[in-house]
Amino acid sequence: MGKDVIVACDFSSKKEVFEFLDLFTEEKPYVKIGMELFYGAGPEIVKEIKKRGHKIFLDLKLHDIPNTVMKSMAVLSSLDVDMTNLHAAGTIPMMEAALKGLTREDGTRPLLIAVTQLTSTSQEQMTQDLLINEPIDKVVMHYADNARKAGLDGIVCSPLEAAKVKECCGQNFITVTPGVRFADGDVGDQKRIMTPAQAKLNGSDYIVVGRPVTKAENPVEAYRRCVREFVD
Ligand code: C5P
Repeated sequence: MGKDVIVACDFSSKKEVFEFLDLFTEEKPYVKIGMELFYGAGPEIVKEIKKRGHKIFLDLKLHDIPNTVMKSMAVLSSLDVDMTNLHAAGTIPMMEAALKGLTREDGTRPLLIAVTQLTSTSQEQMTQDLLINEPIDKVVMHYADNARKAGLDGIVCSPLEAAKVKECCGQNFITVTPGVRFADGDVGDQKRIMTPAQAKLNGSDYIVVGRPVTKAENPVEAYRRCVREFVD
């Protein structure tokens, strides 16, 4: 399985994204489009970035009844994205319906990745707000296994969890890992981090890197450094 660096394009306008992508004259980074940009700029932004030759991870984290998710996934699939995601909390029937919706007439489909527990959720919130009494790491592995059972391709997780996820769900189960920082870089608001080189050693398949590239003095050089450490 090919490893790749996905650049989180967390910009709020089309103008900012294209100014950023125009810096890349030689390579075409895999791009993550999140809710802010998608809801602000509309589905056209996906088509335009795709037309420029980038692969796209559309990070919209769907979570609804199976029928609605199935139909919405069919729409996202028609945008020709390469990877998209949902909340595993929607349960196995919702994940199965999502796969059905994503599958195109010719049998191809984008990769489908599950979010387990959001990293912003604490153990205390799980217990008090959600009445889930199991330890959070056990819940994360259980949701990962549900995603595997539903036929999904992998999960989003911390690079610190990637090796354990592979142990639990198999080596081919994809791990997409944000929380990546250079050894000599700013950590920002991320807490559980790894460098691209460490993420590679730990078995991540894709690293999702935002600010270390988008806010770098030289974004192209920062991107190349990620590729050197993680892919080459
Ligand atoms: O700028 P930074 O490298 O922290 O960006 C990481 C990206 O990954 C952001 O788009 C963020 O929303 C996303 N993400 C994350 N942690 C998660 C899930 C997604 O940082 N648990």
